[in-house]
Amino acid sequence: MTDLTQPVTVPADAYISPDYARAEQDRLWRKVWLQAARLEDIPNVGDFVTYDILEDSVIVMRAGPDELRAFHNVCPHRGRRLIDTPAGARNARGNRTSIICGFHGWTFDRAGQCTFVNHQDDWQGKLTAERTALGKVRVDTWGGWAWISLGPDGESLTDYLGVVPGMLDPFGLQNMRYRWRKWIIFDCNWKVALEAFSETYHVQTTHPEFNAFGEFRGWARQHGLHSNIGYDAPKNMDENQAKLRVGSGEDPRLSTAEMQLFTWENANTNTTMTLVNAAQRLKDELPEGTPAPQVLQHWLATARADDAKRGVIWPVVEPSHTAKSGTAWQIFPNFQIGHAVNNMLCYSARPYQGDPDKCIFEAAVFELFPDGEAPATDWEYTKPEEWPPVLQQDFTNMAAVQQGMKNVGFRGTQPNPYMERSVASLHQNLARYMGTGAPKSID
Ligand code: FES
Ligand SMILES: [Fe+2]
Repeated sequence: MTDLTQPVTVPADAYISPDYARAEQDRLWRKVWLQAARLEDIPNVGDFVTYDILEDSVIVMRAGPDELRAFHNVCPHRGRRLIDTPAGARNARGNRTSIICGFHGWTFDRAGQCTFVNHQDDWQGKLTAERTALGKVRVDTWGGWAWISLGPDGESLTDYLGVVPGMLDPFGLQNMRYRWRKWIIFDCNWKVALEAFSETYHVQTTHPEFNAFGEFRGWARQHGLHSNIGYDAPKNMDENQAKLRVGSGEDPRLSTAEMQLFTWENANTNTTMTLVNAAQRLKDELPEGTPAPQVLQHWLATARADDAKRGVIWPVVEPSHTAKSGTAWQIFPNFQIGHAVNNMLCYSARPYQGDPDKCIFEAAVFELFPDGEAPATDWEYTKPEEWPPVLQQDFTNMAAVQQGMKNVGFRGTQPNPYMERSVASLHQNLARYMGTGAPKSID
């Protein structure tokens, strides 16, 4: 396998080839584990959501208080999709005691067993429970999500996730709730969309406003199927490799306050109002000349205390662990978790209608809320100009990258071996499933 710490190049086929895109359905999407739903969306018995991936659709249902089930969203009679997605919605969502097919009325219970077939005797006793039951899809949970795998056998979710739970469980992701969630269809391959967020190399150019607050140089590391990214930080400030970090410059009290306010107003991600407010007080609570490590420590300690007063308890994570965990994890193939102790930002992307030039992109922002105070949210289709401005900056690259990679003169991508190793990692792992497209060393 190619050493991804060395410079590599990746051919453009994985992004632009219709044949490659077609092959993904069987070789990739029907084999991997996919994050299909947030458990908070299906809290009660009978609650369900659907999840579509290309031609396949899955119903994820809470069958019992502690039991999740997932079914192929298709009627075993003559193949009608059982639960339709409302026009314009990302997915269907609701509560059912039973699922009734709209074509001829076959009915299924929450265990997927068929409980009613009109004129069943006409089948002369051949309609066994097995023939009429809904097809089962493997489902498991981790991090507050339901994960599905369309592959009938294969490794468990735990084996698939590898080191990820060990790195992210201390952050208590399952306790976070949506602050907002939006989706959009982009004119680019799903990999182009995801890769725009899996590296820190673009920050300096795509988000020039951030240069005023600090250095955004960061590392990327591969962990088998998955990878993570984090910021470079001085030795005495290991924790600053993570999402909650102080600004640089003469006075980190002020640059942190400015960076937090800017981030809140222009990205509406990666921070919370508590963190923003605590950052605004740094200049009053700390003397001029306070070194950056103490600014970081004070900022996080006061924000933690402020949240505790309203019943929001942050988990305690060792600074060395926070440092190693970085800012975000790329879960193969199409999900990114940008974690912190009290908030997270998740991205996912998947193909749209099998077209290599289109994808469904989703962003979801979570935070810890006082019990029962999380807002009710749902997926909102949002035009590019209605997203937070920092994300719009990222969006401007999407279609242009897709178009550029089709240019006859394009010789393949050359990801930065230090800062963009997550991009190379994605392709190295894709090649294991797809049998083509592995990164090659640049000699
Ligand atoms: S296709 Fe579902 S009952 Fe006929
Ligand atoms: Fe960005």
